[in-house]
Amino acid sequence: MAIETTSEKSLNGQIQIPGDKSISHRAVMFGAISNGKTKIKNFLFGEDCLSTVECFRKLGVDIEVSDAEINIDGKGFEGLKEPAEILNVGNSGTTTRLIMGILAGLPIHSVLIGDDSIAKRPMSRVAIPLKSMGAQIDGRENGQYTPLAIRGTNLNGIQYTLPVASAQVKSAILLAAIQAKGTSIVKEPQITRDHTERMIRQFGGSIEKVGDEIIVKGGQSLSGCEIKVPGDISSAAFFMVAAAIAKNSRVEMPNVGLNPTRSGIIEVFEKMGASITVQKDETGEAEPTGTIIVETSTLQGIEIGGELIPKLIDEIPIIALLATQASGRTVIRNAEELKVKETNRIDTVVHELQKLGANITATEDGMIIEGNSKLSGGTVDSHGDHRIGMMLAVASVISEGDVEILRKEAINVSYPNFFNHLEQLSN
Ligand code: S3P
Repeated sequence: MAIETTSEKSLNGQIQIPGDKSISHRAVMFGAISNGKTKIKNFLFGEDCLSTVECFRKLGVDIEVSDAEINIDGKGFEGLKEPAEILNVGNSGTTTRLIMGILAGLPIHSVLIGDDSIAKRPMSRVAIPLKSMGAQIDGRENGQYTPLAIRGTNLNGIQYTLPVASAQVKSAILLAAIQAKGTSIVKEPQITRDHTERMIRQFGGSIEKVGDEIIVKGGQSLSGCEIKVPGDISSAAFFMVAAAIAKNSRVEMPNVGLNPTRSGIIEVFEKMGASITVQKDETGEAEPTGTIIVETSTLQGIEIGGELIPKLIDEIPIIALLATQASGRTVIRNAEELKVKETNRIDTVVHELQKLGANITATEDGMIIEGNSKLSGGTVDSHGDHRIGMMLAVASVISEGDVEILRKEAINVSYPNFFNHLEQLSN
């Protein structure tokens, strides 16, 4: 379907950003390994999080899904049973990597399989530390890729410095460490999203941060609780950028997660000189939230790299589009992790934006974007990557002709009502 747009389009109004993907996955997992009832409000009913629900149902966990919430009756780690079937993780890297940490400590055999994109994503970054804790994990190409076969066991604690800044790897180790014998100490090269650490505490567990060491005791048992999932800042990012680059626009998004390990995009908006207001809520919840308001902006190109990268890694595709509308050059560095996301996002971003006339070049670890580009219409492709699909849909708002997006159904992975929101704001 072609999306009809002209450069005169403006976006105005308020939208409720759907629940955070990272937190929704973790809430199901923690509910499944805890004792007692867990209620998850504002759960993200996207395909990725539903893959997590299906995997835990196959592990014997009682999970009730209704329109508004998820209820889990957890029986602790012992309640997880050997699955009779293969566990299908779909397109979800978070499901794959975090569930590996749980399965590594259980006395069961399981097999993980996913789609074509998952089959290309590196899994030995998780398998290596889990194997050194005692688990048996194998997969294609020496354990690197799915399908993965896991035989869990009684694990030993680990002292491990992550070779890459990855919250998925850190989380898998923490989920194994809380089941292990002894204490584990994990260090990360740069700070990554800390939802797992916060959730261990929410579910009554203990975890400490001393300097750059994350310290977890083994043999913990967790208790079910109620989780209110905030709106996903990674989803809000698409409408933040849309409002900033479209004419005469103002978009307001209440209840968006403002966890400082995720809010790098706000720093980028501020550095580029965007019209952004952030009103923090006083909720006392484990995850901070607030209202983000963005208006049509005059933007300047900037340099983005270093410690900021893990705080906005999923937002780089949409930041690249933002940079095409700034004055001057934007350089994104130290972002080689983009190559192992749902697609190689350095290639897919550069390739697809070039088709619309953007002046953007790939580098070894990021991209260089020249601003003040007029975008044209054309046929572009999500490559089956939800964030590329949404970035291209936002590009269509300012493009001078129609934009047709191939494989746009990929957007259902994280934002099933994305096009409804776009329509609701358009006038
Ligand atoms: C995620 C961590 C990040 C991010 C992904 C979700 C998580 O991946 O890109 O979308 O929920 O922990 P890495 O851990 O591979 O950096």
